[in-house]
Parts: sequence; structure tokens; C-alpha cells
Amino acid sequence: MIPVFKPLISKKDKISVLRALNNGEISGNFGKTINIFEKKFAQYIGCKYASTTSSGTTALQVAVAALNLNKGSEIIISSCTNIATALAVVHNGHIPIPIDSDLDSWNIDVKKIEAQINKKTKAIIVVHFLGNPVNMKKITYLKKKYNLKIIEDAAEAHGAKLNNKMIGNLSDISCFSFYANKVLTSGEGGMVCTNNTSYFKKVNLLKNLGFEKPRFIHNVLGFNFRMSGMQAALGLSQLKEVKKILIKKIKIAKLYKSELKNLKNIIFAKEEKNSKNIYWQVGIRIKGNLKNKLTKYLKKNGVDIRDFFYSMRNQPCLKKFIPKKVPETYNSNILWEEGIYLPSSHDIKDKEILYICNLIKKFMK
Ligand SMILES: Cc1ncc(COP(=O)(O)O)c(C=O)c1O
Repeated sequence: MIPVFKPLISKKDKISVLRALNNGEISGNFGKTINIFEKKFAQYIGCKYASTTSSGTTALQVAVAALNLNKGSEIIISSCTNIATALAVVHNGHIPIPIDSDLDSWNIDVKKIEAQINKKTKAIIVVHFLGNPVNMKKITYLKKKYNLKIIEDAAEAHGAKLNNKMIGNLSDISCFSFYANKVLTSGEGGMVCTNNTSYFKKVNLLKNLGFEKPRFIHNVLGFNFRMSGMQAALGLSQLKEVKKILIKKIKIAKLYKSELKNLKNIIFAKEEKNSKNIYWQVGIRIKGNLKNKLTKYLKKNGVDIRDFFYSMRNQPCLKKFIPKKVPETYNSNILWEEGIYLPSSHDIKDKEILYICNLIKKFMK
């Protein structure tokens, strides 16, 4: 089976983890390697601060908390995203307002946001879906007009750019994931990035059980969302290779695109002007009600695929938190019905991509 993704752990990665292990950096928050990883990641994104967390999900959880919004605030989210984006809103006692997707970029439809803004709206969480940057110009316009906070969920977009600026540095706070299938991995892990000192301090406090001085006197209800030194060592080692990884990711997407470009039922996402899509995973839309048959055919021939996300608007676990007034997300529903990711491992071979493309071409004949 050609997997959708498998992590690439190099010899250098293993040495880096072993070094942290030998140094006893196995738990706790403030090992040497964690500090270096945070510093280097902040430098990479170009922001002042970066704070490691135990996952992308917990990064989002503390990022929303750091905004200090009144309970019951409405937070606009992308409807086509991992459930983690919505969970961060709900677990913080806020109301998620999922907005439909744009059928060209597959990102949040920025034209549909303003109609959902009211006095209770305090923030927007945008997701750079599959590594394709959101139109942040329009988001920044809404931020200024309505005095909103913006979080970028950049879990899928390490190294992506818009107008030559790094994704993850275009908002108040951004969150990254280092889950095994991401551009960079630390096993499990996440990062919160910001230029705001008080958000940074709040994130550090919340993720570390609310420990302050004097120790064991706690003023805030915190969590243990810490990354370990061993995980940071893996993340740091992978970060050193990020340029090479991104070149490979873009090469994978180019090959898929050039091979499948003449198939009228296969559609790739459109990109914003002056953006750098890093193609975390190569997604396609399969038109003509053919997705299920094609995915069965691919699996039968040894090719694994993954569906796109099911719209947050219709998630059973979110139903009671989403106000009835929130419009149906017809485009996200289409993406769910038509969208798949194709295998995009960092070390997938050209001949494997060609094999997959030939299967798709044969199926579409
Ligand atoms: C857009 C998005 N947000 C958040 C997450 C959650 O990250 P993690 O799995 O590290 O908790 C993911 C994926 O895993 C994601 O794709």
C-alpha cells in the first residue's frame, strides 16, 4: 500500500532525540532543547515569541484562552478544518460560528464572513487548509473594521508565505502542529507564535499548570500542555531540514498537477496572488459523483487516500454549541463529498506518483 503519509525520521533526528534523552530532558517545560527549538522556530516564522505545546490542539486551546475574551463570545472559524479549531472555541466557553468554504481555494470564504459579524463577535480563526494561504488582506480589513482578534491555525502550513511574509506571522497569534503527518514532526507537539508579550506570558502560564512564583500558589486554572525535551529535539532536528522538505513537497504537487491537468473531473485548489502554497498534502476534488468509486479503485490497487474534513457546521458534537442562525455550509459539504488527499509523504518516489496518476487516468477514461 502507498500510504497517504508516513513520517520521515532521519539518522540525525534519532541522534538529536538520544542526546536529549541522555541529558535527562524527558519531561518538564524548560529543558535546554525546548528553549532552542522555541527560539529557532520564532526566528523561522519571524515573530518575537514561540511557545511549545503538547499538540496543535492544545496550542489552539491556550491561544484562544490567551485572548482573554468574555465567556460566550462568538468566534468565527473555517468550516472545513480539523475539529481541533472548533474544540478550542468550545472548551474556552465561546461560541463557534463556522463559515462556508470558497470552492476555488477551499479556504474560508472571506466574502461570507462579514454577514455573520455582530456585537458578540470577538475573533476569527482562519485555517491555511493543506498549506494554501488564506486571503489575509480581507481578514485584516475585518479585524480593523470590527476590532477583532485573529488566530491563524497554521497546523498545515509551516513555511507557507503570502506577499513574501511568513504564514503564522500575519495575525495576533498563530498555532502550528507537529503531529507525525505534518511538514515537521516532533511526534506529538505544537507551537504558539505571537509578537504580543502578554499573550506569550499567558500561554506559558496556562500550559504549565499555572505555575508562578511563589511556586505552588496558583492564581489561574492551568493545564499540563507541555512538550518534552525529547519531542523538542526531534522538532529542532527536523526544522534544520525544513527548506529541503518544502522543496520536496512542492515538487510532489507539481508532478501530480502536471500529470492530472488534462482530466476535466479532477480539480486542484486555486491560490491567492503572491502566495506560496507548501502543499502539506496534495488535495483534489473529484467531480461527477465519482469520488467513492475512484477511492475504492485506488485502494484496491494499493493506494491509500484520505477524505477532506466534514463541515464543522454539521458535526454532531458541535450541534448544541452552534447557533441555529448560522447558514448551511454548502461548499464545505461539496468539499467533503468530492475532496481527497493523495499520498504525499516527504519521501514518496516519482514512480509512485506516476503509478497513482496512471491509475486515476485509467479510471477516468
Ligand atoms: C488545521 C488543523 N488544526 C489543528 C490540528 C490539530 O493538531 P494536532 O493533531 O497536533 O493536535 C490539525 C491536525 O492535526 C489540523 O490539520
